[in-house]
Amino acid sequence: MDDQQQAMFDAGLDSLVNPFAAPVGPAAIVIFGAAGDLTKRKLIPALCNLLHDRLLAPNFCIIGVGRTALDTATYRARVEEDIQRYKTHDLPRDIIEAVLARVRYVSGDFNDPAAYVRLEEELLDAEKSYGTGGNRLFYLSTAPEYFATIVKQLGAARLVREGERSGDPATHGWRRVIVEKPFGIDLDSAKQLNRDLRETLREDQIFRIDHYLGKETVQNILVFRFGNCMFEPIWNRRYIDNVQITVAESIGVEGRGGYYDTAGALRDMVPNHILQLLSLVAMEPPTSFEAEAVREEKAKVLRAIAPMTPERVLTHAVRGQYGEGMVDGKKVPGYRQEDRVPLKSGTETYVGMQLSVDNWRWADVPFYLRTGKRMPRRVSEISIQFKRPPLLLFRNTPVEHLSRNVLVIRVQPDEGIALRFGAKVPGPSVRMGNVAMDFRYKDHFGSTVSTGYETLLYDCIKGDTTLFQRADMIETGWEIVNPMLEVWRALPPRTFANYAAGTWGPREADDLLAREGRRWRRIEE
Ligand code: BG6
Repeated sequence: MDDQQQAMFDAGLDSLVNPFAAPVGPAAIVIFGAAGDLTKRKLIPALCNLLHDRLLAPNFCIIGVGRTALDTATYRARVEEDIQRYKTHDLPRDIIEAVLARVRYVSGDFNDPAAYVRLEEELLDAEKSYGTGGNRLFYLSTAPEYFATIVKQLGAARLVREGERSGDPATHGWRRVIVEKPFGIDLDSAKQLNRDLRETLREDQIFRIDHYLGKETVQNILVFRFGNCMFEPIWNRRYIDNVQITVAESIGVEGRGGYYDTAGALRDMVPNHILQLLSLVAMEPPTSFEAEAVREEKAKVLRAIAPMTPERVLTHAVRGQYGEGMVDGKKVPGYRQEDRVPLKSGTETYVGMQLSVDNWRWADVPFYLRTGKRMPRRVSEISIQFKRPPLLLFRNTPVEHLSRNVLVIRVQPDEGIALRFGAKVPGPSVRMGNVAMDFRYKDHFGSTVSTGYETLLYDCIKGDTTLFQRADMIETGWEIVNPMLEVWRALPPRTFANYAAGTWGPREADDLLAREGRRWRRIEE
């Protein structure tokens, strides 16, 4: 055991931090969309972090593929600037140098077979120079309209063929493809994309990414639920009154008006990020932490979500769009005044809804979900609201109204878990006050700085699909939101803008809960 590992044991972190995580690789990492924002801000810094933390074997290379005509030297210089700008913490010079030395660039049109011929030449050469063993990870970080084309072209160029046993050295090693979001724009297009990908790839070569699953706190939901024995016995309809999932952002559309106006809050956040959170909270314990065991339990929860009928959409889903308002003490424009947003846009920037998970554990427990732009603050959390205790015991005391116990899993920022419960206020009479036990990640483990993509890249190179979406999970996600998309398309909104920037959404979202005697958890501003 080295000093660092010993120090971790001494600090009591041995069962939490795996000091023995082995480096993954070798691998050639090919990124389509080499000049894009995701590549600069997340992927390259994440690869630097993995190398720095000895989680990536040094025999790797990064081949950027983009439409801009550049040579490798110019691309490297740009990558160097981007690393300096977007690195999550100070990196030793030798790590930066090591990454830069492994960067190459291939330019070309994603539709043009000649680009793939050049890519193959570069790959074969890089495989020799860096000893990447023929393993190839293709990351599709482009606009979604290119996903199917790129995979088709990779297939035609025989770059994704795996065949250790074929005796053809050109097919040695594994070939995997990471597909970014959005995965389709509705159920039909997602099914079509799945069909297109599977014409070229096997299911176990396809890694459909959802960056929420790269967040530590999201991964912690499973550990919290199944690694402790005190929560699971009460994690059901007997004790839980309702579950609320909030993903609020204070930012607006940040120059992404063109994309956002065709997507809207529902497509952008619900079938992917929010349903991932819901499935982790609601799933049954898997029989093991093997990828298929975990994914199957998550898929079962999604399949148990009661389909929304058109009538139910009208009564159980709410949409909103922000008008001008104040965020962080500054006046901000309304959505329709944002760049590249039509003046009469009917796109929603807020959705709230009630879903039911129709299974033995959750029957009659409403799941309330909400997400929106330009809310008072950035916060993602899951709050589990427990039932009230029987009042009988307190009938002769001034305690007229008992609050619910609430367990809050804070996904971001200020990651942690808080439990709110009632305690007696000191004094001669029986009075009750709400108190909280609060665990903050940063107090216990220090603040970990990462891009959120490290684990996802690590797992993909390792071949672990646990944190990636299966084809059927994606399709079930779209099945859940499709009726909302259809009803809202047929009935254009008449009251937009219906919430002011800097507020918690339209009044109808409060009514959704109020008519059942509940309310959204108040999140302090
Ligand atoms: C993206 C959405 O998938 O997630 C964005 O397209 C949103 O609109 C973002 O802002 C939120 O991610 P995070 O990690 O900042 O919560």
